[in-house]
Amino acid sequence: MVLKGLPRHLLSLMDYNAKEIEEIIRNAKLFKEKRRERAAENVLKGKSIALIFEKPSTRTRASMGVAVYELGGQPFFYNKTELQLGRGEPIKDTVRVLSRYHDAIAARVLKHETLIEMAKYSSVPVINMLSNLYHPLQALADYLTILEHKGKIKGVTIAFIGDGKDNVFNSLAIAGVKLGAKIIVASPPSYQPDPGFIEDLKNAGSGTITVVDDPRKAVKNAEVIYTDVFVSMGQEEEREERLKAFLPEYQVNRQLLSYTTKDYIFMHCLPAFRGQEVTDEVIEDVEHSVVFEQAENRLHTAKAVLAYLLGGE
Ligand code: CP
Ligand code: NVA
Repeated sequence: MVLKGLPRHLLSLMDYNAKEIEEIIRNAKLFKEKRRERAAENVLKGKSIALIFEKPSTRTRASMGVAVYELGGQPFFYNKTELQLGRGEPIKDTVRVLSRYHDAIAARVLKHETLIEMAKYSSVPVINMLSNLYHPLQALADYLTILEHKGKIKGVTIAFIGDGKDNVFNSLAIAGVKLGAKIIVASPPSYQPDPGFIEDLKNAGSGTITVVDDPRKAVKNAEVIYTDVFVSMGQEEEREERLKAFLPEYQVNRQLLSYTTKDYIFMHCLPAFRGQEVTDEVIEDVEHSVVFEQAENRLHTAKAVLAYLLGGE
């Protein structure tokens, strides 16, 4: 429930319980099934949403923009460099101004603290469109995709191969544990999740989280195999050492997949760097790869999030 007068933000799915996450995913499924009919509901009629980007984006920019449009609202796109923010105007001033014009502020930021500062000063909901720590909108689309392919989320074994401190992984793990999935993450020792994060997750829900070094062990019983880039936006300076740590062992390729025993789907949030974290043949394998359905589901889950945060007002 979103209480009148108090903006509910979406900075991390850690702040949402299983029931709320399930409700958003369920509504996203309805938005998908009845895309045109539901547009007539005009959930965001007369409302405008600020979409602020400090980093590049294709899926998030397009899915949020189309979601707002199809819900009857108006998206406003702002690149940081075009705002006075780019010249040093404080976040707290920018947000207090924008929240007097817009009904919600969504932002893709370099540092998660920026979102926390935004939420502190905003009188309207703030939505995380990716930070260095989390990517909640991605995780919601991921679980809609898993639900569609596996018929359930509870008890499904999800192997994430790659950077255990990755923003996409963090949100996948948070939502997964809350929804009862079995998460297994395979990363080189220095890229494994922080023990504090694992501890928090253990108390977050009925799912489980296991950390291993060996990607073959992770994929063995996996029904979902997921990877993300080894070098995220903002980590370009670490490129060389990261690629050295992850390659060739953590690449999702035909050889690694020969260790699977279950009927798995392959997932990736995109954009993918073919030849690094995944090979072209794995991503193009239509028998297993669901990456474009995943990308499509960003639209439906974006609508469900907007309707959840703004629809009741
Ligand atoms: N998956 C995702 O967020 O893609 P973009 O960076 O293109 O928005
Ligand atoms: N981990 C990636 C995800 C991109 C959608 C990044 O932050 O660059």
